[in-house]
Amino acid sequence: MHHVTDRYAVIGYPVSHSRSPEIHAEFARLTGEPVHYARIEAVPGTFAAALRQFIASGGKGLNVTLPFKEEAFALCHVHAPRARKARVVNTLCMRADGTLAGDNTDGTGLMRDLTHNQHVRIQGARVLLLGAGGAARGVLPALLAEKPLWVHIANRTAERAHKLAGRHARNQRITGGGFDSLGRNSFDLVINATSASLARELPPLPHDCLNPGAVCYDLTYADRPTVFMHWAMLEGAGLVLDGWGMLVEQAAETFYVWRGVRPPTDTLLALQSR
Ligand code: ATR
Repeated sequence: MHHVTDRYAVIGYPVSHSRSPEIHAEFARLTGEPVHYARIEAVPGTFAAALRQFIASGGKGLNVTLPFKEEAFALCHVHAPRARKARVVNTLCMRADGTLAGDNTDGTGLMRDLTHNQHVRIQGARVLLLGAGGAARGVLPALLAEKPLWVHIANRTAERAHKLAGRHARNQRITGGGFDSLGRNSFDLVINATSASLARELPPLPHDCLNPGAVCYDLTYADRPTVFMHWAMLEGAGLVLDGWGMLVEQAAETFYVWRGVRPPTDTLLALQSR
């Protein structure tokens, strides 16, 4: 049987550094699924138009990255439960009936990398989440589902951290504040969900806020360790990771959402030694 190739893409600004196309090309090769995956750069203000154009030309799905994840959420007709909780969308699905479905695989991807690939135990852990923007919002529901003892959100703009914590605080201990709100507390897991690493900047973290063996995870991926990763190594973290594993795992989850086929991730995970 002759297959027509289905078209997918990652849309963002900037998007030229995204490694998603090579990851999805490898998934297509590994699974034999007829998937073609491209990059679309949309200048801010042109997201909705670019989306309409992609749909009109027969595109089947999009990965949404910076800075359009909130806008994508707003444009969807239906949302997967995990996307509704996060209020940000990284995966769009153009359904045959014309509806646009939104999902968020970022949190699932991060948790899969931490708990399955890296064997990090989050249940009962004290977690520091840096940042309160789209990335932090995207991973928070999946993080809370792992039942940490406490999540403290620290953000440059304290108000955004307060708001985000307030929205999720139910049965779990979750607090928020500025970078000066850490007090003398120390943490088992620190997740950098700020975009500071992209600007080679480091959030102002106090000395000695890591528990012995603490895990530090930067959602940013880069060929060299980020400033946050350097800080973590100097502070004696037990395990320091960049966001490559999360990128691969969220891509696999997205591929599954789109195709109903779960691609193996081991060879891609091994590509970048950490
Ligand atoms: P993203 O989707 O990457 O989260 P975003 O929604 O623009 O993008 O959020 C960026 C996050 O990084 C925010 O938490 C931002 O802090 P503010 O809420 O105070 O803006 C944080 N951030 C960006 N640059 C930073 C820097 N140089 N130092 C510390 N935090 C920074």
